[in-house]
Amino acid sequence: MSNTHLILETKRIILRRFVMDDIDSLVKFYSDPDVIKHIPDAPRNYEETRKELEWHVKGHPKFPELGLWATIHKDTGDFIGRCGLIPWSLNGQDEVEVAFALSKAYWGQGLATEAAQGIIQYAHETLKLRRLVCLIEEGNQASVKVAAKLGMSFERKGEDEIGPFLLYSMSKF
Ligand SMILES: CC(C)(COP(=O)(O)OP(=O)(O)OC[C@H]1O[C@@H](n2cnc3c(N)ncnc32)[C@H](O)[C@@H]1OP(=O)(O)O)[C@@H](O)C(=O)NCCC(=O)NCCS
Repeated sequence: MSNTHLILETKRIILRRFVMDDIDSLVKFYSDPDVIKHIPDAPRNYEETRKELEWHVKGHPKFPELGLWATIHKDTGDFIGRCGLIPWSLNGQDEVEVAFALSKAYWGQGLATEAAQGIIQYAHETLKLRRLVCLIEEGNQASVKVAAKLGMSFERKGEDEIGPFLLYSMSKF
């Protein structure tokens, strides 16, 4: 993978831009019902996943510096999920979400927290973003725990076209 694809790395993880060759890994990743249980807009089949992947590869038209990135385990080189920064407009306000989702085999090792901490540092230092949020479906206790470990606080409940969510946030002054 060329260096131009690298977004950031942490002790155990590399985040890099997606390439179309990630299709099989991404399809396998989204095929686990436990992984997508709390991701209401996750692609549900090969074609939807291919379209989503094309979107990741092209980048966001307005915010190309944001996006979901392929998450790679350094030790094994395995594709273990997709994490990153997603722009939303919520009640007319622009927000940037720290997003994380990993394959089940990698849960419970602090990897989501580590990836998210790397993303937050990147958001603050490289992108100069001050406010970051997490949008979490009610009942997703693991994500609530990760948000708390990241230093986020519960702000409010909300709802958008995808569904209801809990909004956690953090601001850097
Ligand atoms: C949410 C997710 C990314 C967490 O990944 P992870 O690498 O296991 O997270 P971490 O190990 O960094 O931290 C998880 C914490 O939640 C806790 N936890 C896990 N499941 C839990 C549950 N059902 N109830 C309460 N706490 C739970 C863990 O014990 C851990 O806390 P600890 O460090 O105090 O022990 C992972 O479960 C996942 O990919 N889920 C599916 C996709 C998803 O829901 N993404 C988030 C959408 S907002």
